[in-house]
Amino acid sequence: MPSKLKVALLGATGETGSSIIRGLIASTQPHYEITALARSASVNKPALLEYKKKGVNIVAVDLSGPEAELAAALKGFDVVISAIGPSELMQQVQLANGCKAAGVGRFVPCCFATIVPPKGILILRDIKEDVINHIKKIYLPYTIIDVGWWYNTTLPRLPSGKIDYALPPYEQSIAGEGTTPYALTDISDIGVYTARIVGDPRTLNKYVFAYTEMRTQLEIYDLIEKLSGEKVMRNHVPREDIAAGVAKAEAKEGQIVVGTPEFYQLAIFQYWNTWGIRGDNQPEYAKYLGYLLAKDLYPDLQGKPYLQYCQEVLDGKAHVVYKGVTFFE
Ligand SMILES: NC(=O)c1ccc[n+]([C@@H]2O[C@H](COP(=O)([O-])OP(=O)(O)OC[C@H]3O[C@@H](n4cnc5c(N)ncnc54)[C@H](OP(=O)(O)O)[C@@H]3O)[C@@H](O)[C@H]2O)c1
Repeated sequence: MPSKLKVALLGATGETGSSIIRGLIASTQPHYEITALARSASVNKPALLEYKKKGVNIVAVDLSGPEAELAAALKGFDVVISAIGPSELMQQVQLANGCKAAGVGRFVPCCFATIVPPKGILILRDIKEDVINHIKKIYLPYTIIDVGWWYNTTLPRLPSGKIDYALPPYEQSIAGEGTTPYALTDISDIGVYTARIVGDPRTLNKYVFAYTEMRTQLEIYDLIEKLSGEKVMRNHVPREDIAAGVAKAEAKEGQIVVGTPEFYQLAIFQYWNTWGIRGDNQPEYAKYLGYLLAKDLYPDLQGKPYLQYCQEVLDGKAHVVYKGVTFFE
């Protein structure tokens, strides 16, 4: 039997990271020896202790500590994946430096989001691009993975309240006319795609777009109405309002603190603009930007159909994201 690839994941307790660690554990092609890297205050979190029972090693790391200590912790890994949260993205500069010093074979920085032009459209992407640029500056082997928009934050409320349990902690709105197709993936499939991508020599120093389905917001609203038999409220945000929100976000560039209510209030206009109006989050545009498509690389990986996700939601069986989190005050 070939030896297992040694992979380390930072952020295993988070939304994206918990999908990735499950994907790595379940992976058979290839098999992985898995380490979860966590801040020392988090190493005893119940989720990590559960992964430990499944054979995952848990190692404490301090991204703001001495580089030599971080490099020592990262020594010997074929792959290091980061699923760090949005507010901490720039701490990946230290993580990348540690990977370089340790001779890590491939670093996967935290992207795992929609396709967006590299700069000037979305604050969060701008920060991620600064990290990617740093990786290239230090000549660190990498793979960039983007996954489209999560299924799990697409559905509107039903008047009955029946699916409230599965909805994110903010109201759903339709960007403009709601007719722009955008790429979608169930959060549970991010790990399945990632496990395949990071063990594949063809994806070294490449960008990969792993999404499952294309839908428009109108199609989504029509589908949930048909499946539930309920009439959904359609709150369209006009293009002019989105443009005004984007202008406000641009005027505040450099002053907004990521993770604050103000950040989320302005970022949502940028998201609506990029995937709802401009139509950036699509495979053709990804290919134009130089991405490989997971659908071409792994035709056997299908991903969960959106219809199945909707049925799980209606049956009360959906995976719920951001439980107890508040984005807006
Ligand atoms: N595609 C989409 O629709 C979509 C939606 C939402 C987010 N995203 C993207 O997904 C990515 C991850 O976001 P998320 O919401 O999944 O993250 P999250 O749930 O906030 O989790 C963040 C993780 O990072 C860890 N972490 C933070 N700072 C750390 C540090 N200094 N050292 C070690 N670990 C640290 C946290 O560990 P602790 O246990 O120590 O707190 C936690 O495990 C982001 O890039 C975001 O843009 C995409």
